[in-house]
Amino acid sequence: MEWSNQRCLLTGASGGIGQAIAKALAQKGVSLVLVGRNSARLHALKEQLPGEHQVCCADLSNAQERESLVSKLTEQGGVSMLVNNAGISHLSTLEDTSTEVLESVLQTNLMVPMLLTQAFLPQLKQRRTTHIINIGSTFGSIGFAGQTAYCASKFGLRGFTESLLRELADTNIKVSYLAPRATDTQINSDASFAMNKALGNQVDTPEMVAKQFMLLLEQHKTRAFIGFPERLFIKINGAFPSLVDKALIKKLPIIKRFIAPTMKDKIL
Ligand SMILES: NC(=O)c1ccc[n+]([C@@H]2O[C@H](COP(=O)([O-])OP(=O)(O)OC[C@H]3O[C@@H](n4cnc5c(N)ncnc54)[C@H](OP(=O)(O)O)[C@@H]3O)[C@@H](O)[C@H]2O)c1
Repeated sequence: MEWSNQRCLLTGASGGIGQAIAKALAQKGVSLVLVGRNSARLHALKEQLPGEHQVCCADLSNAQERESLVSKLTEQGGVSMLVNNAGISHLSTLEDTSTEVLESVLQTNLMVPMLLTQAFLPQLKQRRTTHIINIGSTFGSIGFAGQTAYCASKFGLRGFTESLLRELADTNIKVSYLAPRATDTQINSDASFAMNKALGNQVDTPEMVAKQFMLLLEQHKTRAFIGFPERLFIKINGAFPSLVDKALIKKLPIIKRFIAPTMKDKIL
């Protein structure tokens, strides 16, 4: 990988995992386009990074803002890496999830990566070697109670990534999927953190996720699933889902303690 020749569009750069990935890439000499909605956080990040970078504020679920971002960057010569990392989460039963939240989770976590990828494909094809990396989740392989919208979006993102990497196999575009497990960032509400603790789930640092992200690129991997036993559960869930049904249904009473109806309209 010739890092210093890369220009990378990183969505969700203002978030926990995004900031850690931005720091890891900038240290290698990659020039970044930092995208998010929180201008102050993006500018503060830019100040900390070595090298030349650009801040672009955009609500990616807004078609106009997304399209003007694409036009602006295409006019500037485009990018060689697209990291679809922006995401939102919501912990509640399906019954207690509003239509607005359902649509927003699917739009941000699934449609936005698909639409951005589609918009950048023509110019990605014109460069020598280019990369698309989609940030999924363990919940993109294991359905979890209280996470129906999030799981649907991340299962969709994994399917999209797999399909695209096969579709583009005879091109210069490498497509990869990185699935973090629970990570210490603001996407997780207090209830999510408390639930992870009660369930005994490990929580990674964003820096650990960034390290795995860099390994994925350096080792030319198409997929990486972070953490043990999560990696094992993903395999078992793929081969024998009824075994995982049983294990997770046993935990349902604990999970239900943290899915409060008061969380109904909270979009993180
Ligand atoms: N943390 C975990 O436990 C965990 C586990 C597995 C997978 N992941 C995945 O990792 C990715 C990064 O999440 P994180 O943990 O770093 O969460 P985070 O700290 O909450 O960051 C989320 C990022 O997404 C951006 N974003 C959300 N909606 C957006 C929109 N409509 N337009 C533009 N930007 C938007 C946010 O931007 P602003 O703040 O500027 O609005 C923020 O930069 C997500 O895809 C998430 O699903 C996280």
